[in-house]
Amino acid sequence: MSRFPLSPLDRVLALADHALRALDGSSQAARPKPVAVRPGPPLDDTERRHAGALMRVDHVGEVCAQALYSAQALATSDPNLRRQFERAASDETDHLAWTAERLDELGTRPSLLNPLWYAGAFAIGLVAGRAGDATSLGFVVETERQVERHLDSHLERLPAGDLASRAIVAQMRDDEAGHALAAENAGAKRLPGPVRWAMRGAARVMTTTAYYL
Ligand SMILES: [Fe+2]
Ligand SMILES: [Fe+2]
Repeated sequence: MSRFPLSPLDRVLALADHALRALDGSSQAARPKPVAVRPGPPLDDTERRHAGALMRVDHVGEVCAQALYSAQALATSDPNLRRQFERAASDETDHLAWTAERLDELGTRPSLLNPLWYAGAFAIGLVAGRAGDATSLGFVVETERQVERHLDSHLERLPAGDLASRAIVAQMRDDEAGHALAAENAGAKRLPGPVRWAMRGAARVMTTTAYYL
């Protein structure tokens, strides 16, 4: 992060750069990609396609995480909270790079709709951020808990022999739980039921679509 105050133009350029990196696959992980303790059996075509589709869904989730944290960091005026969002976003960058690499290994591609997912998530992140820091943190808690459950379901659905994908998803699930806990400890306000249900509905649309597109 810059030690000098950023001008509005600097901020716009930094946001655009961040978005392009999330979308063009050039994000670099700070941590090494989690690997399985032993190599799994070779996957057949059906397993490979299914694992690729699930990892594409997870990659979309990470594209959205980039957009959400970027928007929420922009919206807060509290420098400590902005740093917390940026720390979590750095883990999400690892997740983005790991899932992108795994998509390559599985011989498939990221979602064609990633620019749309990014734009939608950025808009939602701005709305959450403008609702105040406690609500913004509550949004993080709810999002991260939903992602944690979703990744748990992928650990059940991934082919049993796809140990490489499983190692990545398991580490991501643990990181997301840490992000939720950090947001809770920072003073998150629990979101009202209808907002949580709407978030679940939106996530279902995204995950169902991204499996195919
Ligand atoms: Fe993540
Ligand atoms: Fe997270």
